Amino acid sequence: MMISPSADPVTTEVIGLLRSHKRAPAMGALAMELNISKPRLLRALEALKELGYVIAVDHDQRLVLTSTPDRMTDIEIMAGLKTRSFGRHLHCYRRIGSTNATAIDLAEHGAPEGTVVVAEEQTKGRGRLGRHWHSPAGMGIWSSIILRPPVIPAQAAGLSLLAALAFAETAETELGLEVKLKWPNDGLIKGRKVCGVLVELSAEVDRVHYAVCGVGINVAHAVKDFPSALRKSAGSLAMAKGAPVERLAFYRAFLQRFETIYRRFRQEGLSPLLADYRRRSLLLGNKVVVRQGRLKIAGVAVAIDESGGLVIKQGKKETIVHSGEATLR
Ligand code: BTN
Repeated sequence: MMISPSADPVTTEVIGLLRSHKRAPAMGALAMELNISKPRLLRALEALKELGYVIAVDHDQRLVLTSTPDRMTDIEIMAGLKTRSFGRHLHCYRRIGSTNATAIDLAEHGAPEGTVVVAEEQTKGRGRLGRHWHSPAGMGIWSSIILRPPVIPAQAAGLSLLAALAFAETAETELGLEVKLKWPNDGLIKGRKVCGVLVELSAEVDRVHYAVCGVGINVAHAVKDFPSALRKSAGSLAMAKGAPVERLAFYRAFLQRFETIYRRFRQEGLSPLLADYRRRSLLLGNKVVVRQGRLKIAGVAVAIDESGGLVIKQGKKETIVHSGEATLR
């Protein structure tokens, strides 16, 4: 089901007014100002209350917005969002199968670059290599962005590095956390995986139609909130910070950073962004194994090349891998 308070223009106007006034007019005056009946205003206020807004009435009967919900609704994400295209078309859901699946559907129907799908909960969250991505309600940022980069499919592999880099920069700047990136696209904090990226492509041999870049960020989980198989390896921003983290503020900052990085990628390719990625790399300089199906490539990770591939040195031989599951040996 979609959560779209902005679908009701009265609700949008009321929240806009409450936000812009420390003390908004009293109910009757507000209804007059908006040119609506009092019952209509009450309905909008009730809808806002259900979404988690706290609206008080002060001693002069004026309305005061005392708290806004940390929920991924279109009105809240848009409030203060400074992007040009990322998130300017927003599809917000309470519960969905997978934001990637819905974004693919929208992209097939022509949705523009920057269109975002966000959900409070995913019931069929997709992970890399056909795995499931645990996406419980209200605990994380489960979101997909539609991109239409003018590149060939091999270059689009770089997109997942960009999304991971945007996560790292956001966690560092907004929360002061140190992030390590495990090639190609895992974001780890204090040794635990907090962010994963899944890019799905529609392409011909020499043209990408669109890419859906799905990003999952664990925000509010405690260890007990993860399924037992993940309890040793997964983490959240709140666990790393040792304090609650506001999803909305983090998400807005992430969208802004990702857009900046992506624009640079469109203009100049991956090369100018690689130094920032390499600096945070968990694998470079270490012994690693990369599994590609049944194939195992073991050696020392010596570089990330201009296309985003991992260069593995095995004695005198060097192999460049472009996909797979990497682990430290
Ligand atoms: C990984 O395996 O590390 C990638 C996980 C990607 C999860 C995100 S959550 C939002 C988007 N929708 C999905 O179904 N998957 C991605």
